[in-house]
Amino acid sequence: MMPERLQIPHKDSSISPTSSSATPSPSSSSLQLSADAINSSYGDDETENTSLHPFQKIFDNMQRLNNVQEVLQSPYSHPLVIRAIRHMNQVKLEDLGIDGSYVQSLTAGQCMTVLESRRFDIAAFLLPAGFKLHLHDHPNMVVCSKLLHGSASIKSFSRVKKRKNGDVDARLEVDMQKSVTDEPWLLTPRHGNYHEITPLTECVMLDILLPPYDDEQRPCHFYHAVKKNVDESSESNYLLKRLTYEEQLQIELPYPVTYIGYRPS
Ligand SMILES: [Fe+2]
Repeated sequence: MMPERLQIPHKDSSISPTSSSATPSPSSSSLQLSADAINSSYGDDETENTSLHPFQKIFDNMQRLNNVQEVLQSPYSHPLVIRAIRHMNQVKLEDLGIDGSYVQSLTAGQCMTVLESRRFDIAAFLLPAGFKLHLHDHPNMVVCSKLLHGSASIKSFSRVKKRKNGDVDARLEVDMQKSVTDEPWLLTPRHGNYHEITPLTECVMLDILLPPYDDEQRPCHFYHAVKKNVDESSESNYLLKRLTYEEQLQIELPYPVTYIGYRPS
């Protein structure tokens, strides 16, 4: 990361009050591409080299990215995203240079940076049971996620309106469990951009962040979700209260550890 980027923002970091309307996703409510889309040949313009490491495939694919705005505008149908998800399905826990016994021995959350670049990052989060990845956002980013080990509860919110104080009127978009056998899933600028991950067992989650966090343009913020007393049909059923700097200091975050697995180049 982003691991290093999923940190407390500087105290003087500011956000510009904006608002946007969330519209229904063309995909399912789980913000997941269909298996047909993932397995189709859509967007392929060359034969896949099956001998390459999956991280190398992801890297080579992302190197083709010329216009990140195109991905941000149409993430569910963009060939780069579809290929990235297909390649994520080939990644195994052992590709990170660790095994299940290592994950079982965790006593606190860890994060590993597989790759950092100007256009995208790849990172893994290692979370023991009970270590919650606190509710946070991914401003103007697309994130592809895949569990490589264990299972977790995922809650994602979509922004309905951003308030001047940084709080967000939001709609609960996803509240479901994921396991290692599930397909990757997406969050986008408009759908599920605010999420929290609660491990049900010790788990490992792989993320591709497109583009990466940026302290100036795309800083990470943390929130506390408060359910509104509204009708279920209301557009916004949660208020995401942005944490103060002092409150953020109380959050336990995964700490960075050295990555020893395959490094694409
Ligand atoms: Fe995240």
